[in-house]
Amino acid sequence: MKIGIFDSGLGGLVILKSVTKLLPQYSYVYLGDTLNLPYGKKSQAEIYNLTKKAVAFLFKHDCKLVIIACNTASAAALRKLQKGWLPKMYPDRRILGVIVPVVEVVSTERIGVIATKATVLTKTYIKEIKKLNSSAKVFQVAASDLVPLIEANNFKAANEALKKYLTPLINKHVSSLILGCTHYPLLKNEVRRLVGKNVKIISQDQIIPLKLQSYLNKHAEFKDTLLKNHKTEFYVTKLGSSLKIISKSLFGTTIEFKRVNVN
Ligand code: DGL
Repeated sequence: MKIGIFDSGLGGLVILKSVTKLLPQYSYVYLGDTLNLPYGKKSQAEIYNLTKKAVAFLFKHDCKLVIIACNTASAAALRKLQKGWLPKMYPDRRILGVIVPVVEVVSTERIGVIATKATVLTKTYIKEIKKLNSSAKVFQVAASDLVPLIEANNFKAANEALKKYLTPLINKHVSSLILGCTHYPLLKNEVRRLVGKNVKIISQDQIIPLKLQSYLNKHAEFKDTLLKNHKTEFYVTKLGSSLKIISKSLFGTTIEFKRVNVN
């Protein structure tokens, strides 16, 4: 069995890269739903349906565990999938999200979150942070333009837009900043430059691999089923010119993506 990593686009490759760096021995399947991106501008019902189909695709490709690397899908669909669909359809598999693992490492009181509009609207980050620290002050900004600009490989415009999104959080004197979207770690250097050195930047690529490792160590029933052949398969629902550029800049080599229809 394999480990699936799902994102609405290419941002999840950042998570895949960090996970495979820490746990290179396993076999991975990556799926980016580039045809339906951006999820961040869709309704919760649409995100749920798309995420369900994507996770089902990964289960059919022998994934024992699926990490929903996409924050928007984690916020809008994860709980519902875990409670209703998964136990009925795939009781021996697991779906893991990225929001709770991130919230668990935040230790300061004034917390900024940048995320997609859909993630912000669910208030999932606020709810999960308050469960652990009821006195925390959480400030959210919907950074709607960033994902389309990053997917188009237009980092110049993305960095310019970032300033507009971070300014309200800087003005609120946040002490931690959660990059609440798969794509934002790609802007980390510019984020650091804008927020200064005293703000703790919480980036999922540094958290998810360790959380996965500890999950597997606690769940031998999953770990023991995992194939160890150091391989990754890459699937997208739409091919585009950014695939080569972004994957080459991340992995240093050209990756062959297969186009699939998950519907
Ligand atoms: N991957 C999504 C996330 O982490 C954002 C991209 C999108 O809007 O589809 O929130």
